[in-house]
Amino acid sequence: MKNKNKTVWSARFENTPSKIFERIGASISIDKRLFEEDILGSIIHAQMLMKQRIIAKKKGIKIINGLKKIRNEIKKNKFTFRNKYEDIHLNIEKRLYEIIGDDAGYLHIARSRNDQVITDFKLWIKNSSNEIINNLNNLIESFIKKAEKNIYTIMPGFTHLKNAQPLSLAHYLLAYVEMFKRDKKRFSSNIDYIDECPLGVGALSGTSYKIDRNFTSKKLGFKKPTNNSVDTVSDRDFAIDFLSSASICAMHISRFAEEIIIWNSDIFKLIKIDDKMLTGSSMMPQKKNPDPAELIRGRAGKNFGALQALLTTMKGLPLSYYKDMQEDKALVFNSFDTLLESLIITNELIKSVKPNKERMLFLSNEGYTTATDFADYLVQNNNLSFREAYKTSAKLVNYAEKNKKKLDQLDFSEVRKMNKKLDKNVMKVFNVRNAVNLKTSYGGTSTKNIKKMIFKLKKELK
Ligand code: ARG
Repeated sequence: MKNKNKTVWSARFENTPSKIFERIGASISIDKRLFEEDILGSIIHAQMLMKQRIIAKKKGIKIINGLKKIRNEIKKNKFTFRNKYEDIHLNIEKRLYEIIGDDAGYLHIARSRNDQVITDFKLWIKNSSNEIINNLNNLIESFIKKAEKNIYTIMPGFTHLKNAQPLSLAHYLLAYVEMFKRDKKRFSSNIDYIDECPLGVGALSGTSYKIDRNFTSKKLGFKKPTNNSVDTVSDRDFAIDFLSSASICAMHISRFAEEIIIWNSDIFKLIKIDDKMLTGSSMMPQKKNPDPAELIRGRAGKNFGALQALLTTMKGLPLSYYKDMQEDKALVFNSFDTLLESLIITNELIKSVKPNKERMLFLSNEGYTTATDFADYLVQNNNLSFREAYKTSAKLVNYAEKNKKKLDQLDFSEVRKMNKKLDKNVMKVFNVRNAVNLKTSYGGTSTKNIKKMIFKLKKELK
């Protein structure tokens, strides 16, 4: 065969590429991950060429059978990927020549690698976004389970990492569920944006063949073909969207990881973590360190970095295709792998967390956390304005601090000194459990609210 071992563009070239360029220019070690999508795209393209009578049926069938054979070879690890043929598209095309001979040359009619690569990549990102969504669902399920067991677990809620107001641990965990739900929405709306099929725009200007883009688009599971050939081959927004959603999701789980690290510290001691999510120290025999949580936190940097890298690559690139864009795959694949692993570890982590309920309850009553409830009581029962009530409550806190008492350790006579019209009922507001259950406004931490919310979230999950 005359083309054997030559690049597809060898007819125009007098020399082969330098070794260093061959190595750097080749993306095969990375984009071989797209082989399923690439072969599917090629099969559908060949079907369309046959249907439109652009290629003879016999040739088309030969091509499709050859492609299926290649798919099998790759799946069975019997395929040799070659740097010389740069990427997955040309590696497959070259192999097709080996299998079916010169008829392989008919497959690339009305198509360029420029539309081919984004078709593959969009299909891959669609599938991978769904995989992330599935993992977010697993995470949501685990958080809800943990929340269900901790509706009555009272913990200190923080602002500025200073004790603020008591909360139910369940409510706190459900905050993360809301974040994960937004992550899911982001990934699924990306799938919506991505749903336009690039195949058929050619190198950049379209093609003179009578192709049927609606056919290929539909067969590949896209909503419609893209509108503008130049935009199509220039566009990497869908990859940036993926990286951006992955970054936000990684940011969320890194906040949770940080939370766990703080709560597990010897100073806070709010939780215990199962040994399987801890590691020891090489020197200090007593240590049990929360390494998995630290890795979730740290690896978010890789997700952010990938987003930053692709934005920078795309910034200032004129339309349409430039080789710069080839770097997009490694960034997206890395970001996906990192996020997927981090989500799986986060799921393990939440399951392995045991709240130290007594300590949580004790700390939720440290730092005068019911002072706001006292102020609210004065507004609701003694007709004070909130600002007036705030001052009265601040006075009570100062008094308690001076006398080294917690608010619920004060006697009624001491509280009454702040406002003569107070009756004994006021003493209830200093109980942290009561304080939690007073927060009945929609979205608040009362037990009733939480139970309703868990019911609603579980229904959503089904
Ligand atoms: N491997 C290339 C990439 O990922 C495919 C597109 C090549 N197109 C080109 N005009 N060189 O971007």
